[in-house]
Amino acid sequence: MGKLYGLLGHPVGHSMSPIMHNDQFSFLGLDCYYHAFDVHPEELENAVKGIRALGLSGFNVTIPHKVEIMKYLDEIDEEALQIGAVNTVVNREGKLCGYNTDGKGFAVSLQNIAGPDFLNKKMLIIGAGGAARGIFVTLARKGAIAIDIANRTLEKAEQLISDNPYPIQSCSRSIKEAEENLQEYQIIINTTSVGMSPKIEELPLQLSNMKPGTILSDIIYNPLETKWLKDGKTLGALTQNGVGMFVGQGALAFEMWTKEKPDFSRMEQIVMKQLGGNK
Ligand code: ATR
Repeated sequence: MGKLYGLLGHPVGHSMSPIMHNDQFSFLGLDCYYHAFDVHPEELENAVKGIRALGLSGFNVTIPHKVEIMKYLDEIDEEALQIGAVNTVVNREGKLCGYNTDGKGFAVSLQNIAGPDFLNKKMLIIGAGGAARGIFVTLARKGAIAIDIANRTLEKAEQLISDNPYPIQSCSRSIKEAEENLQEYQIIINTTSVGMSPKIEELPLQLSNMKPGTILSDIIYNPLETKWLKDGKTLGALTQNGVGMFVGQGALAFEMWTKEKPDFSRMEQIVMKQLGGNK
């Protein structure tokens, strides 16, 4: 009998996960199917009961359920607890076990552009919401030496720094202060939604003080190249969009569910095609 996987989110209409996972299932000859379920927040508990009753083998969780879902699971992995959010669930003989592959997916894609010693480079994260949390805690856990956080609301950056249990040099900065000291950083990561379609002209942070050769990573993938990345490229930055993180989190979930290593570049190609780019 085939296995069923899914995505719980609201909305899910534009998700690229079904096409990415279903292509990989057929590519690897696995009798599995992935479906996106649009679950209203009030129905989340019932949806999890349904998953148990129907015996789905695993699922992803996306906005707005990544925190709320934790109430309804049987076990939660330590890293997901530290991040405070779950994006991947594995059904182990009826036990629903929650993980977070967002930060790890990001780390894999960052290493691809920044090289094996990326954890020794001084980084700046812009934003202090859910996405920043996953990235910051995972990089700190992996042994990053110095990551500052710049956010519009300074208290949220301070909170994120004090919640992190791993040793790291880190200070909170206002956006203006970060802009003035941008030459300090070798890697700058945008985790805010600033620059995402349809408000594509907005910048999360001005880059005029950036050193050429700095790595700019934007977790946005719609548009594929934000104005921020475009400006950065003009100033001599190496840039990466959010496709790598998206594929990275999906590939890790796929491997946890099926115990098979997916073809990362095929996944990336299919996502790029969906987004109207070519790779
Ligand atoms: P996610 O889960 O995608 O990280 P989130 O938890 O709502 O979403 O966090 C959004 C982040 O983007 C926050 O850091 C937010 O800044 P505040 O903490 O000040 O709200 C930041 N953000 C969103 N819109 C912004 C804007 N127009 N200008 C600056 N920062 C913005």
